Amino acid sequence: MIELKTPGEIDAIDAAGSAVARILAAVRERAAPGVRPTELDALAADLIAEAGAVSSFRGYHPRWAPTPYPGVLCVSVNDAVVHGIPARAKLRRGDLLSVDFALHLDGWCADAAFSVVVGEGDPGDEKLIATTEAALQAGIDAAQPGARLGDIGAAVAAVARGAGYGMLADHGGHGVGRSMHEEPHVPNEAKANRGLRLEPGLVIAIEPMLLAGGRDGYRHDRDGWTLRTADGSRAAHAEHTLAITEGGPRILTLP
Ligand code: MF3
Ligand code: CO
Repeated sequence: MIELKTPGEIDAIDAAGSAVARILAAVRERAAPGVRPTELDALAADLIAEAGAVSSFRGYHPRWAPTPYPGVLCVSVNDAVVHGIPARAKLRRGDLLSVDFALHLDGWCADAAFSVVVGEGDPGDEKLIATTEAALQAGIDAAQPGARLGDIGAAVAAVARGAGYGMLADHGGHGVGRSMHEEPHVPNEAKANRGLRLEPGLVIAIEPMLLAGGRDGYRHDRDGWTLRTADGSRAAHAEHTLAITEGGPRILTLP
């Protein structure tokens, strides 16, 4: 079932989203060569507690996963696309880091992600990240009241495919509310003018994942969580939670 949120509920998700954005900014600031992803996870865990919030990730156990998720962040490095478990191995200059983070505040969830190159970046990686952010923005711009769900995927895919990048066929965004993952599924590739009519009160996360190699293949790591590109190429991820409002899309995961 798709649940529309009241303006008051959207404000509550916005409060959670502000905390998400602040904590992600702190994580981004701390990320540097020599820092361990486990240290980033500990930083985020401290900041969640300080905010009076609860991790949406730790203990999360979807059917397909072998174990409950152990961290509060997903930290996906280089060929890891998403769902990377924060590792002890130190970050190195030039690593492509993707950080995904969600929390619950007063019972409401917000979910966001960014990618960045650690230290000095390869221009190809910078372009991959910039294109992922542009794909996210195109998806957000398409999330207008009266438009359809397929318009979002069509906009995201036009940017990603137009630049020659691959995408994951069966992973995309989702509804957000009291739960992190609600209906509807929000595909990153779809036909324009098809699917659910977007109505004010719908709250969704849009999250393009772009694969530098241009192919769509991926595999699960031995840990059962981490998704890696099949060809070993790098991947980037960007995500915002937003509400459809009468006035257009309202991004809820801004500081
Ligand atoms: N934020 C992620 C998404 O919506 C979910 C991460 S799964 C978890 O794709 F287990 F890490 F929580
Ligand atoms: Co998400």
